[in-house]
Amino acid sequence: MTSLPWYHKTTIYQIYPRSFYDSNADGIGDLPGIIQKLDYIRDLGFETIWISPFFCSPQADFGYDISDYTDIAPEYGTLSDALQLIEAAHQRGMKIVFDMVMNHTSEEHPWFRESRTSRDNPKADWYIWRDKPSNWYSMIGGSGWHYAEERGQYYWSSFLPFQPDLNYRNPEVKQAMLDIVRFWLGKGVDGFRLDIFNVIYKDADFRDNPFSFSLVPTDENPASFFQEPKYTINQPENFVFAREFRSVCDEFGERLSVGEVTGGRKVIRKFLGEATNNGLTLVFDFEMMNFKFTADYFRHLVREMERHYPEPFMPVYVFSNHDKHRSMYRLGNDLRTPFASPKGKRSERGRKAKLLAMFQLTVRGVPCLYYGEEIGMTDSKFPFATALDPIPHRFTFAPRFVFDLLGTLLNRDEVRTPMQWDGTHNAGFSSAQTTWLPVHGNYPAVNVEKQQVEADSLLNTVRALLKIRRQEKCLQEGSLELLGNLPKGVLGYARMLEGKKIMVLLNFDDQEKEFQVENTGNLFNLSTKDRVGNQTIHLAGYGGLILHAPFAVPGEEVPANPPPQTAA
Ligand code: GLC
Repeated sequence: MTSLPWYHKTTIYQIYPRSFYDSNADGIGDLPGIIQKLDYIRDLGFETIWISPFFCSPQADFGYDISDYTDIAPEYGTLSDALQLIEAAHQRGMKIVFDMVMNHTSEEHPWFRESRTSRDNPKADWYIWRDKPSNWYSMIGGSGWHYAEERGQYYWSSFLPFQPDLNYRNPEVKQAMLDIVRFWLGKGVDGFRLDIFNVIYKDADFRDNPFSFSLVPTDENPASFFQEPKYTINQPENFVFAREFRSVCDEFGERLSVGEVTGGRKVIRKFLGEATNNGLTLVFDFEMMNFKFTADYFRHLVREMERHYPEPFMPVYVFSNHDKHRSMYRLGNDLRTPFASPKGKRSERGRKAKLLAMFQLTVRGVPCLYYGEEIGMTDSKFPFATALDPIPHRFTFAPRFVFDLLGTLLNRDEVRTPMQWDGTHNAGFSSAQTTWLPVHGNYPAVNVEKQQVEADSLLNTVRALLKIRRQEKCLQEGSLELLGNLPKGVLGYARMLEGKKIMVLLNFDDQEKEFQVENTGNLFNLSTKDRVGNQTIHLAGYGGLILHAPFAVPGEEVPANPPPQTAA
């Protein structure tokens, strides 16, 4: 009997706290607001919540610039609210994961304020200071070295200038940061999402990065702005640090750690450990955020994930977050996508979204869903000039259509709009006059309340799939085998565990498919037209089926087939 650690079989729901639920009518989401909505997430069926940062911060990068790691930004609540949130999640049998920004602090963190004053203060060596900059570029282009008058030196920042990188080669820094990790673990937090974890170490000798022909980074190849970040990301010391981080987590039992890492699968896999999973428990693999909605794409993806993250590792399946386009953007009918499917009607998008959810919740891996994806929230469109996100302001020299053409999300405000709870004022997110970002105009049609009562809504489909996943250990822990000999456009895989076999068939085509399979019993159908009879499978366009299949393991009894369930 296998039994995986909880963090390898859980399901994750990502909350962007500023936009989830505003409990005090100031137009900004907050921690008491999350507590009020925990039942919604539990009833939907997610087991773990990950919350983007809510610690003290000048909010220049909306919390990814922290000025106090052990206290809460007043607009989100108090330390006592955070502790209550942990407890409230646990009372509901859920796990809670915080977002830890280990690489950098805010420039307003007292450590940096002190560090920049002179070359010989007690924190002088807590950040990365140089007399002369190397040629290194930051992750968003341009030199990442910034001059500080007071000290007459340059400090390094991997991301934006107000986010100075900590110096992990100083043991005091590492100790201080790991103590913060221990602080929250001691308060009962079940783990961490680790912000840009792969840039924590930089080359000790500050060697110049080599030239590259690449201008725009991809998730596989991070070279950009004509530079290969050879000495600024994925340094060997960073893989060692992943194991040190893990051992701190282990002091508190089974705790989740999921790294935001980039740079190609072979490299990012190293953050998990070598032969055994003794590094981070999970990593995000962002290439799939650029998915194409075809069976071939997903077949290739599964093959790659199985190859790079076989047992005892576990892949994460994630299609959107607070930095990237929402998945609806890739499912067609987004007029800003020049390659959008001409057939991308709203109804079709909804069917595609259900199929995507069915894939994400049944494939071997930990699914991670960004808030609002369960109702099909879409990107907003805001002018760059008035963006709250600092990034678009750095690219004012290039017109918007260039980024749209590249499919790059520049203004992240567009995917961070308030959660659409119902059809009332501000989509039920806040009773304030205005909200920190405007609610998406489609909220009267796209909201939770509406989808709760529509039997076959995306929301109820996600709920039904999560229920099956919780009921079927095989879907949580089973191995995976891709099925061959399927009609074009159909993806199929079997999940297998302890003599049980479940088959998943997904039709990525808008045309109906009919084909033969071995004897099976129906467990779930995505649409009422999907059916199995007399060993023949009928899949509607964008249809999907989950089937029980006999699995010939000597001495094991084939379980009886329970009656099928549908999204209702
Ligand atoms: C990560 C976060 C992003 C943030 C950046 C700097 O990529 O997801 O939102 O701006 O790191 O901390």
